[in-house]
Amino acid sequence: MAEKRESLHGQWSGRWAFILAATGSAVGLGNIWKFPYITGENGGGAFVLVYLVCIAIIGIPIMIAEVMLGRRGRRSPLNTMRHLARDEQVSPHWQYLGWAGMIAGFLILSYYAVIAGWALAYFFRTAAGAFTGVTADGATSIFASLVSDPERLLAWHTIFMVMTIIVVARGVRSGLEKAVRYLMPALFVLLLVLVGYAMNTAAFDEGLSFLFTPDFHALFYKVDDAGVEHLTWGPVLVALGHAFFTLSLGMGAIMIYGSYLPERTSIVKTSMMIAGMDTLVALLAGMAIFPIVFANGLEAGSGPGLIFQTLPIAFGHMPAGAFFGSLFFLLLTFAAWTSAISLIEPAVTWMVENHGVNRIYASVWAGIATWLLGIVTILSFNKWAFSFEFAGQVKESGIFDMLDILTANIMLPLGGLFIALFAGWQMRRQSNLDELNMKDGVGFQVWYFLIRYVSPLAVALVFLNVIGVITL
Ligand code: PFF
Repeated sequence: MAEKRESLHGQWSGRWAFILAATGSAVGLGNIWKFPYITGENGGGAFVLVYLVCIAIIGIPIMIAEVMLGRRGRRSPLNTMRHLARDEQVSPHWQYLGWAGMIAGFLILSYYAVIAGWALAYFFRTAAGAFTGVTADGATSIFASLVSDPERLLAWHTIFMVMTIIVVARGVRSGLEKAVRYLMPALFVLLLVLVGYAMNTAAFDEGLSFLFTPDFHALFYKVDDAGVEHLTWGPVLVALGHAFFTLSLGMGAIMIYGSYLPERTSIVKTSMMIAGMDTLVALLAGMAIFPIVFANGLEAGSGPGLIFQTLPIAFGHMPAGAFFGSLFFLLLTFAAWTSAISLIEPAVTWMVENHGVNRIYASVWAGIATWLLGIVTILSFNKWAFSFEFAGQVKESGIFDMLDILTANIMLPLGGLFIALFAGWQMRRQSNLDELNMKDGVGFQVWYFLIRYVSPLAVALVFLNVIGVITL
């Protein structure tokens, strides 16, 4: 057996620290901003069901594999893959998985920080009472005026990137654990408050049935301009991609957090808990948002602005709405912050390990590069906006949408596919058993079957269908 490695960047203080940090990475804009808007665009229930199935049979097994690889390699994802490939005597090319992950993280953070900037802007707006008594039209036009102004977007994006760089430069352990321990539960409680508000709108039942009543025909068949129906797998790819995005899988973020995990912690149990909490937060966000959408005659498929156009209406009409509203957007910013940190961490640790630079230097440079690329996203909502069609949807924010599709729907599922192939087919069965601290019983066999066959085949099938190589 290979000798045990120690992480060069420290270790979590225990199992809970890892759970909190990984949950901090998983729970973010993906749950509260992205899940509702892509669910709205893709017609609700059937999409949600496909997403839940993806989490269960692909997301959780791959999460277990990614944490396991991280803990066994104990390095930045790139070096982890290199060491593990050597231990298992397989091709050194597996290290490119680490490269692809760093690039994906960099691309995602570039737009993620811009959206996090919106949340920050909304914190101040709500606190200032801008939404008191607001109508649906009013909320929509306040949002439109924000995104049409590149300078304001740049200011918020810059503030958010600086916040991220500061934490990453100091090392992810200090501060992060504490922030997640208190702020995540607070965000959860506020979501419950919002669901409580949604229950009192006239459209709570309508919202719930939109979210939970599947209509598979509507999901799979799109009508073209000539009025003819076509089978499309696009929405399945979006659901699959979102399962990876929301769990932070496929790019090394969870791998690097796994590399700080103490020896004896159960990877299987903790992964299931993290995925469970993440899913719960997304579903609560959906339950809060769709009743407000329907009660106010808004458009469920209105795209990335959805939560910014709906939640302010709730805050504008509930007692102490300015307080709850600003607290909500503040916590959303925190949730985005703890995710942003994990997006850049693989690249920073790699620079520290391979280029002998210190953490501060590495964080600042990685941060500046990401900040620069973020400008492209900023302009996608105004000066450079153009639209195109993807998976039966008209996407209106040009390059931003392309970056999102490229990363969430292509790079992350492919990264996950290779993680599954490495754990399932390149690592010896015994190495998997050792690192997971498991006996070769039913639990292990179920996971091993999922990781060897089900997850890779499912990802490959969706891809092949979407590119039209095979059609089921
Ligand atoms: N999981 C985060 C969210 O749902 O907001 C986003 C994310 C973080 C994606 C880290 C990927 C990642 F590696």
